Amino acid sequence: TWTMVNIVDEQVDKIRAQIGERGKAICGLSGGVDSAVAAAIVQRAIGDRLTCVYVDHGLMRKGETEQIERDFVAATGAELVVVDAEKQFLDALAGVTDPEEKRKIIGREFIRTFEAAEAEVLGDAVTGEHADSVAFLVQGTLYPDVVESGGGAGTSNIKSHHNVGGLPDDLEFELVEPLRTLFKDEVRLVGEQLGLPGEIVWRHPFPGPGLGIRIIGEVTRERLDILREADAIAREELTRSGLDRTIWQMPVVLLADVRSVGVQGDGRTYGHPVVLRPVTSEDAMTADWARLPYDLMERISTRITNEVREINRVTVDITSKPPGTIEWE
Ligand code: XMP
Repeated sequence: TWTMVNIVDEQVDKIRAQIGERGKAICGLSGGVDSAVAAAIVQRAIGDRLTCVYVDHGLMRKGETEQIERDFVAATGAELVVVDAEKQFLDALAGVTDPEEKRKIIGREFIRTFEAAEAEVLGDAVTGEHADSVAFLVQGTLYPDVVESGGGAGTSNIKSHHNVGGLPDDLEFELVEPLRTLFKDEVRLVGEQLGLPGEIVWRHPFPGPGLGIRIIGEVTRERLDILREADAIAREELTRSGLDRTIWQMPVVLLADVRSVGVQGDGRTYGHPVVLRPVTSEDAMTADWARLPYDLMERISTRITNEVREINRVTVDITSKPPGTIEWE
């Protein structure tokens, strides 16, 4: 619609005014809609002076990294650096089963990896002829985040940045937040307007620690692959049923330390269960378990147990929040 065109043009003008010719910008992509739309707008404004960084921690769902590498880049023409950090994350997570410990480790490794990439991307911005440049950090902050954190629209964008190893202490970082005045549904419309892939624009919320907190037990490459297959089937069938926009989220959880007896094909199996966790919600603070149609649940169950050898049982979580949280960890 014309309104969304206006929002894009207005933001592009604003960003050009803010950044001018002063330096380079960097934007971390998470795979979600906010960072993708923020990056796409800034790309329109300053082209290849923006570099996007995507840390592949190996905990993403099937196809998500390719969506960023291939489809996001094709749609926007943005410069993208993909850091393959799967081994680093899995090594750090080896033997860890406690949910908060997992979160801490993933968060720590993420910052470490992102900062190393940041130093590399911005390195030549602070040497030689560009010695007085500013580094711009693009963030997909939405209006509700701005209100929640008590900073009214239009507050100062200057941020004293955390110390990034490899960059001089006096390099100034400045925030660029093209979505500061928008609500989530507006961000999605802008994303469509910018021609971003539907899978990114309409993606359900997905936690930063990714599948790492949807494997109950230790996180290993093998377990991640099993969960990725099951999750891809569940998502595909949910989308096919037309319920994507009715359901807030549907985590698929792998009970990796639980085994149960089953019978598949010619014989007895001793496999793992997965849990479907479909919920409806307004804001994730509270949630109701979603009454999925029986035929949809049947298709998901049949396909997962047929197509994923290691899984012989599919269960559905019928707990609301509270008392259950949406994620299992
Ligand atoms: P819970 O499980 O607390 O989740 O009901 C509420 C919402 O937050 C997401 N979530 C996370 N997001 N890092 C994130 O970025 C996290 O560690 C995390 N834990 C939960 C969850 O997917 C749901 O949308």
